[in-house]
Amino acid sequence: MTHTKIVEVLSLDPVLQEVHIKGWVKAFRSNRFIALNDGSTINNIQCVVDFENTDEAILNEITVGAAIAVKGILKESQGQGQNVEIEVQSVEILGKADPEEVKKTILSPKRHSLEKLREQAHLRVRTNTFSAIMRVRSKLSFAVHQYFQENGFNYVNTPIITGSDAEGAGEMFKVTNFDLKNIPLDENGKIDYKKDFFGKETNLTVSGQLEGETYALGLGQIYTFGPTFRAENSNTSRHLAEFWMIEPEVAFCDLDGNMDLAEDFIKYVINYVLENCDDDLAFLENRQAQEDKSKPEAERAPMALREKLKFITENNFKRVSYTEAIDILKNSKPNKKKKFNYVIEEWGADLQSEHERYLVEKHFQCPVILFDYPANIKAFYMRLNEDGKTVRAMDILFPGIGEIVGGSQREERLEVLQEKMKAIGIDEKELWWYLDTRRFGTCVHSGFGLGFERLVLFATGMTNIRDVIPYPRTPQNAEF
Ligand code: 4AD
Ligand code: MG
Repeated sequence: MTHTKIVEVLSLDPVLQEVHIKGWVKAFRSNRFIALNDGSTINNIQCVVDFENTDEAILNEITVGAAIAVKGILKESQGQGQNVEIEVQSVEILGKADPEEVKKTILSPKRHSLEKLREQAHLRVRTNTFSAIMRVRSKLSFAVHQYFQENGFNYVNTPIITGSDAEGAGEMFKVTNFDLKNIPLDENGKIDYKKDFFGKETNLTVSGQLEGETYALGLGQIYTFGPTFRAENSNTSRHLAEFWMIEPEVAFCDLDGNMDLAEDFIKYVINYVLENCDDDLAFLENRQAQEDKSKPEAERAPMALREKLKFITENNFKRVSYTEAIDILKNSKPNKKKKFNYVIEEWGADLQSEHERYLVEKHFQCPVILFDYPANIKAFYMRLNEDGKTVRAMDILFPGIGEIVGGSQREERLEVLQEKMKAIGIDEKELWWYLDTRRFGTCVHSGFGLGFERLVLFATGMTNIRDVIPYPRTPQNAEF
């Protein structure tokens, strides 16, 4: 490397050593003080220019957004707000940024709304907020791998193109090679997928679970971490059409073990960012506090960001059955006063995010694991309980987020699974390979899926999922 990262320079002893750095200009005050950032840290380094001895043409090109290289001497700072600064010996302009053009973009140094930043998502990573979010996101991914690797899990890459709808919700993006103006039909006038690229109907995966299960039933413990796709037309602050999911799957593990794993895993990764992203978290915490000032009391975050994260790592998640949750909801004030959009009338109702958030934020005031849901509101692969009407499902609900994890113990009994598939109209021929795992050495096994962006949302204190992924894909939006 021909230069040193700013994060390293900032931690050096200011013993008059020469340093060479590169970065983008954040501010240039009084023709003298450059605030430079290279993305390695939320903190800028101050570079002090001797303007009387610097070429006028160069001074004019030190503008916000420009890329420059600086050589100079690291010194103890005289000014406030930093320990060290660089006394500049030479500046080289690497990439100019025309101030008039910069003014039209989000690079201009003033407050821009998050909506505006989304429109210029290719530039928003140059802002403090987005560089902080993306560094936290990166650390979180690393922590995910570290947790599973340290605990003997194998990383499995399940296919992105698949013929199955793991969740059975029909929210799939089709994958085809057909000329859309000339789609081949069979003798019955139906689309002839035999003539398509794969010789069958295919889609982008909604979940790697089914393939993940087959690998867990051989490797013992696996996890996936990859992109998943859902064509659900949900324009909410919690839904993306393309999101990253982490799906561990464990052989010889029941639902209790699954809950233990999920809780331990989440605590580990949150603790990891607490220990490794303090500068960014401090910045995001302050940002959230500023935002909250303009919000009504009821919408403000009840805890500061790092306090909230510590709370997660230090407290047990509350485990509550669906049946208990329904009782709590039925007797709750908003239900009795018909304040919920969906009033809970009876056992069997599907829980909406308003109900989940009531349970977590108002009633329990801590993360909640709901388990043993009614069979008919959950996916086909979940293990049927002795009562014949509930399944060994679990959802983890988080304050401010709602559902962050969905998982279950899987139905390992061939006949029960076949019966279930028949009842809801899933063709056995399509999933012959999945059923084989129940024919040859079937066993109790469990797993879950955690939506990575919902985790990043929680860890950064942001409130819209579009702001925690570089290029969000949502209905009517696939720019960049
Ligand atoms: O609850 P889901 O649909 O469960 C599954 O896909 C199972 N196959 C997982 C498993 O057992 N292996 O999705 C799991 C998680 C949700 O809890 C949520 O965090 C996230 O994925 N998620 C989404 N995140 C962003 N945008 C969307 N549209 C999401 N849909 C689900
Ligand atoms: Mg779910």
